[in-house]
Amino acid sequence: MLIRLTDNWCLLCFTLFLCLIKVSLAGDPFVFYDWTVSYITASPLGVRQQVLLLLLLLLILFYLFYGGQINYSCHSKRNQFSEASGHKNCRAFFILEVIGIEGQFPGPILNVTTNWNVVVNIKNNLNEPFLLTWNGIQQRKNSWQDGVSGTNCPIPPGWNWTYQFQVKDQIGSFFYFPSLGFQRASGGYGGIIVNNRDIIPVPFGMPDGDITLFISDWFTKSHKELRTVIERGISLGAPDGVLINGLGPYQYDNSLVANGIPYQIINVIPGGTYRLRVHNVGISTSLNFRIQNHNMVLIETEGSYTVQQNYSNMDIHVGQSYSFLVTMDQNASSDYYIVASPRFVNSSTLAKASGVAILHYSNSQGPASGPLPDPPNELDTSFSMNQARSIRWNVSAGAARPNPQGSFRYGEITVTDVYVILNRPVELVDGKWRTTLNGISYIAPSTPLKLAQQFKVPGVFKLDFPTRFMNRTAKVDTSVINGTFKGFMEIIFQNNDNFVQSYHLDGYAFFVVGMDYGVWTENSRSTYNKWDGVARCTTQVFPGAWTAILVSLDNAGMWNLRSQNLDSWYLGQEAYVSVVNPENDDSEVPLPPNAIYCGVLSSLQK
Ligand SMILES: *[C@@H]1O[C@H](CO)[C@@H](O)[C@H](O)[C@H]1NC(C)=O
Ligand SMILES: *[C@@H]1O[C@H](CO)[C@@H](O)[C@H](O)[C@H]1NC(C)=O
Ligand SMILES: *[C@@H]1O[C@H](CO)[C@@H](O)[C@H](O)[C@H]1NC(C)=O
Ligand SMILES: *[C@@H]1O[C@H](CO)[C@@H](O)[C@H](O)[C@H]1NC(C)=O
Ligand SMILES: *[C@@H]1O[C@H](CO)[C@@H](O)[C@H](O)[C@H]1NC(C)=O
Ligand SMILES: *[C@@H]1O[C@H](CO)[C@@H](O)[C@H](O)[C@H]1NC(C)=O
Ligand SMILES: *[C@@H]1O[C@H](CO)[C@@H](O)[C@H](O)[C@H]1NC(C)=O
Ligand SMILES: *[C@@H]1O[C@H](CO)[C@@H](O)[C@H](O)[C@H]1NC(C)=O
Repeated sequence: MLIRLTDNWCLLCFTLFLCLIKVSLAGDPFVFYDWTVSYITASPLGVRQQVLLLLLLLLILFYLFYGGQINYSCHSKRNQFSEASGHKNCRAFFILEVIGIEGQFPGPILNVTTNWNVVVNIKNNLNEPFLLTWNGIQQRKNSWQDGVSGTNCPIPPGWNWTYQFQVKDQIGSFFYFPSLGFQRASGGYGGIIVNNRDIIPVPFGMPDGDITLFISDWFTKSHKELRTVIERGISLGAPDGVLINGLGPYQYDNSLVANGIPYQIINVIPGGTYRLRVHNVGISTSLNFRIQNHNMVLIETEGSYTVQQNYSNMDIHVGQSYSFLVTMDQNASSDYYIVASPRFVNSSTLAKASGVAILHYSNSQGPASGPLPDPPNELDTSFSMNQARSIRWNVSAGAARPNPQGSFRYGEITVTDVYVILNRPVELVDGKWRTTLNGISYIAPSTPLKLAQQFKVPGVFKLDFPTRFMNRTAKVDTSVINGTFKGFMEIIFQNNDNFVQSYHLDGYAFFVVGMDYGVWTENSRSTYNKWDGVARCTTQVFPGAWTAILVSLDNAGMWNLRSQNLDSWYLGQEAYVSVVNPENDDSEVPLPPNAIYCGVLSSLQK
């Protein structure tokens, strides 16, 4: 046999190469989680004593009349609109069914470091299909793991499915949540922390503690009941309360807050500096976050280190995440309020629904007292936008890579695709109440777009999402944005509705370069921040205003673009951006071997 020396050398090189790959893979650790998703009971807004007594009385009467035939079930009139499932689907007056992960609400924190590999085996013990999405995790080359209806078949009740992904080239604070059927309104969310690698210092002193806070509006109706309300074109109105870490408000005023509601206590050491990671995981309410007598130094938002600035409060819109440093520099004469209160609502809603937790110094002399710290003036419509504009990227700080964040000079890149995306208030489309983006109301096909693309199934979606609002009759459709691989896209969101929207793009961090009231025109580009606009994954768009973002389409895949406001999303404010490398190289990872099949591909399921 004739094997030339060079061949042997090649073989050797190749083996070495493989070894190197193996070493570098081994260098990125794996973390494994086994999570069971199930309903758990909780009472975030408390047991109302009067109601309890009344119920007890009724129960006794009922028992007297029906002699022991009491069958604890809650489908009665309340559920006449929900699907005919035998499972009890109730949130009685006080005990609510919420979605827990490993029996916890909020779920466990995924605490990893840049480039780690994450393996999460999810067991779905709900009575509905389920998917988790990893809000802000870019899933590089790997939209297979994104966990939205366009990329994955849902995990059927009783099944398990294992996600596997790498948190490639990312740092920061994110969260996961259930992406289907309004389930986030019932919980199922939890935090994601991606730490800097040891070799890259964070641009601030090491904090004395790391605290995650979830703030959210909350309705005592279940997600299934809320769905039916929305499907009838009815606005959800003011929330029943605001939760902090799944718990109701501290009784700061006994005329407004009932007795005995469990609330969140944050224990701190005087003089310490803590990193607070605050996520708005609610349905549709913008929340103002603040801490009595304490200054908040903004340091990070959704994976970007920001210019460090002082804020006494911050408007956090649905789906957004912020990190603050808070120094415990007060005199501990009492505890202090941590407040998340609804924005852009009237005072009666504000009084009814504010989230209040307690900041407790170890040497505190007594409970917090007095009124809550003042929210921003509701009449000052420019406050919130000016605050948003004040958030800047720290261009000199390193993040996931040692080189400064600002070495990616987004302002110098030529735009290849422009989309002006307009929303409209809920309207009747083909007899159903729907919301639209550029006149199209997204309908999720039974076969995920990504699978349809992989198996070349025709007719599942069209790459025809319009670049402008065409002023045509609204329609329900599965229309996808045809993104250019390695292109640079400009998207302008124009909010034609009368409340704040927030829009999110999976697969990427985008640069928020401008926002203003009125209608966007080509001239608006002259106001863009081309230097230190922050890179993030969710941006707010104020009513009657626009927000412009720039995004470098370097991540091939099928990526979800959605309203983070659950009601707008549920009714159709959603689209996908398909980014395909026509050269078919290794720009995407292959279909995972454990993929679940559904829709027209159901027969492939083993
Ligand atoms: C996350 O894990 C790191 C170790 O990798 C640990 O130092 C840190 O305290 C953890 N953070 C939280 C919030 O659990
Ligand atoms: C389901 O879980 C089992 C272990 O509990 C695991 O072996 C199996 O791979 C999981 N199935 C999927 C599809 O991830
Ligand atoms: C405040 O808003 C709530 C809900 O949106 C509404 O029911 C109530 O009538 C409003 N009150 C005032 C004084 O406008
Ligand atoms: C933030 O406030 C602190 C005092 O609370 C002050 O020392 C610091 O200089 C302020 N930082 C900025 C950037 O204004
Ligand atoms: C502690 O600070 C509060 C205001 O922050 C002040 O009203 C109070 O007098 C101070 N108490 C002491 C003992 O210094
Ligand atoms: C930006 O980050 C650098 C670390 O690279 C830090 O020293 C500096 O204080 C930060 N600047 C601001 C304004 O936050
Ligand atoms: C859209 O069409 C309606 C009538 O169909 C018309 O009244 C309106 O002016 C049009 N708007 C634009 C921006 O063209
Ligand atoms: C999508 O865009 C690519 C270029 O990025 C183009 O080659 C292709 O024809 C487009 N597809 C459709 C259906 O417009």
